[in-house]
Amino acid sequence: MNDNIFVKSGENGYNIMLRYDFKDLSGALKEMGFENRRICIVSDDNVFPLYGDELKNELRDVSGDVFSIVFRAGEEHKNLDTVREIYKGLNGYKLDRKDLILALGGGVTGDMAGFAAATYLRGIAFVQLPTTLLACTDSSIGGKTGVDLDEYKNMVGAFYMPRLVYMNLKTLSSLSGREFASGMGEIIKHGLIKDSAYYEWVINNFSEINDREPEVLLSMIRRSLEIKRDVVESDPYETGERALLNFGHTTGHAIEKYTDFKLMHGECVALGIIAAGFISYKRGMLSTEEFYEIRDMFVPFGLPITLEDDAEPEKILSLTKSDKKMDNGRIRFILLKKVGKAYIDTTVTDDEILSGIRELIISDEDR
Ligand SMILES: NC(=O)c1ccc[n+]([C@@H]2O[C@H](COP(=O)([O-])OP(=O)(O)OC[C@H]3O[C@@H](n4cnc5c(N)ncnc54)[C@H](O)[C@@H]3O)[C@@H](O)[C@H]2O)c1
Ligand SMILES: [Zn+2]
Repeated sequence: MNDNIFVKSGENGYNIMLRYDFKDLSGALKEMGFENRRICIVSDDNVFPLYGDELKNELRDVSGDVFSIVFRAGEEHKNLDTVREIYKGLNGYKLDRKDLILALGGGVTGDMAGFAAATYLRGIAFVQLPTTLLACTDSSIGGKTGVDLDEYKNMVGAFYMPRLVYMNLKTLSSLSGREFASGMGEIIKHGLIKDSAYYEWVINNFSEINDREPEVLLSMIRRSLEIKRDVVESDPYETGERALLNFGHTTGHAIEKYTDFKLMHGECVALGIIAAGFISYKRGMLSTEEFYEIRDMFVPFGLPITLEDDAEPEKILSLTKSDKKMDNGRIRFILLKKVGKAYIDTTVTDDEILSGIRELIISDEDR
């Protein structure tokens, strides 16, 4: 079931290798010229104990100088303090510009190790080894790297392409139910913004997906990657259509901050999709059935569809407006023209955003 997908980027591009072990990694790194170079694995303290040794064993074939930097897991550590620790580690291991960083982990690891790679010595090569469903289908490709600044999500960052994305899909078997579900938030987003048939397929295959059946997972990851690839190839620096990938993220990021990062990224994306879907519905672009199908389909995937009853819509609105997706003072909101087709809208009013957020709070009985 091995598979490769190529992502064009400028004159060149990079390969995404879908595998079920790390065995093809050393050959690929040798072919790319990293034989006997210093290699530093950057990972978090959940993932490294699970897969660090297996990876290091595999890398013996490429280089005798393999090091590791392990940081504390979690979004709360995706910041400049941890980046500084990574820089100090890279410097301590004397990595130079011809050496290589491997990011082993989820989106937090990939975003942060990628940012360290983009800036250390003005840029050294890095390879993504994503280990969450979210990272395998979304964050590991497209070259967006960065960290949070205080409560501002992804405020400091760089566009910096990986040299290779290598997925050992076996690593997904150790994800908790909640971490797996979080990835589904982005996957459902891919269907809703670009491909209604894929969205329907995901709904129809929910039990196979939740059972993590290998062939179904592979088809799903492949389709999500293709959608993300097509978008980032057409607009690598987000001057236009790439913004569609932010569907659900404007309010989603606000909810992430409002709940103090206690909810996972994909959980907040699900809530943000419902809020943005509600605005699309109220504008007459989705039917009642379509909107409630979108909302309710998150439930079988273990994603939330409501916030606590005492959540404060005005506060979430003001956090929404402090997010960085502004265009001349207006929020660039992503709405659905229909299922499978998203567009950028700069006319969304505060009242509309509030109504979308309230939709997450008011219980059915009160509505
Ligand atoms: N760069 C992009 O284009 C992009 C796109 C989407 C999301 N993101 C970012 O990605 C981050 C979310 O990614 P995430 O959900 O992967 O977060 P994460 O990296 O924090 O991983 C979630 C949790 O799962 C653990 N984990 C990872 N792999 C595991 C495995 N195989 N087995 C057991 N546990 C494992 C991690 O230690 C962590 O506790 C956010 O910071 C978000 O902003 C970036
Ligand atoms: Zn996201």
